[in-house]
Amino acid sequence: MKFFIDTADVDAIRELHDLGMVDGVTTNPSLILKSGRDIIEVTKEICSFVTGPVSAEVVALTAPEMIAEGRKLAAIAPNIAVKVPLTWDGLKTCKVLSSEGFMVNVTLCFSANQALLAAKAGATFISPFIGRLDDINLDGLDLIGDIRTIYDNYDFQTQILAASIRSANHVKDCALIGADVVTAPPNVIKALAGHVLTDKGLEQFMKDWAKTGQKII
Ligand code: E4P
Repeated sequence: MKFFIDTADVDAIRELHDLGMVDGVTTNPSLILKSGRDIIEVTKEICSFVTGPVSAEVVALTAPEMIAEGRKLAAIAPNIAVKVPLTWDGLKTCKVLSSEGFMVNVTLCFSANQALLAAKAGATFISPFIGRLDDINLDGLDLIGDIRTIYDNYDFQTQILAASIRSANHVKDCALIGADVVTAPPNVIKALAGHVLTDKGLEQFMKDWAKTGQKII
């Protein structure tokens, strides 16, 4: 399973990139706001060291405007995936841009039928939002499972990019279900390393080591 990092914080991406944990990056208008940076400038900087897909989202609401924005974003670097919302105009944009050879990430997906439409429109990635479904007491992981089944039934090549990941358990569950990619904030990726028994075991080893009075260096 590929790891995309869900942030426009360049330092955070760089730290995980240096550990080999970054297969791609996703951003959205809220994350650009949080970064406090210009969308073109920050996306260019991310693409200067991330070689995998970097999603940059359009903000227009009509297909002709989305297509124009998408082409401008795609011109930033060859590894840009243009992110479009799962609306009828977003699907039209997806069809046009994917036919032109650009990667397209269809975002704000909350149903299996929406995912089916995105695949038929040529999406490279579909982004079902797990956390936001969980927020309203629906099961985001069931949606990932349904999309996996439908895409496998018909051999759709669109990759399932599980988004709105809020916990380490979400990552594990998506891996078990067979999501192609998870996009998670840096703190969630780091949390994957944590285990209470690792901390406890290390504490005991340190205590016993101190008692030996030895040094390795
Ligand atoms: C990524 O593509 C999505 O925009 C992001 O994962 C949304 O996450 P949130 O629901 O935590 O804002």
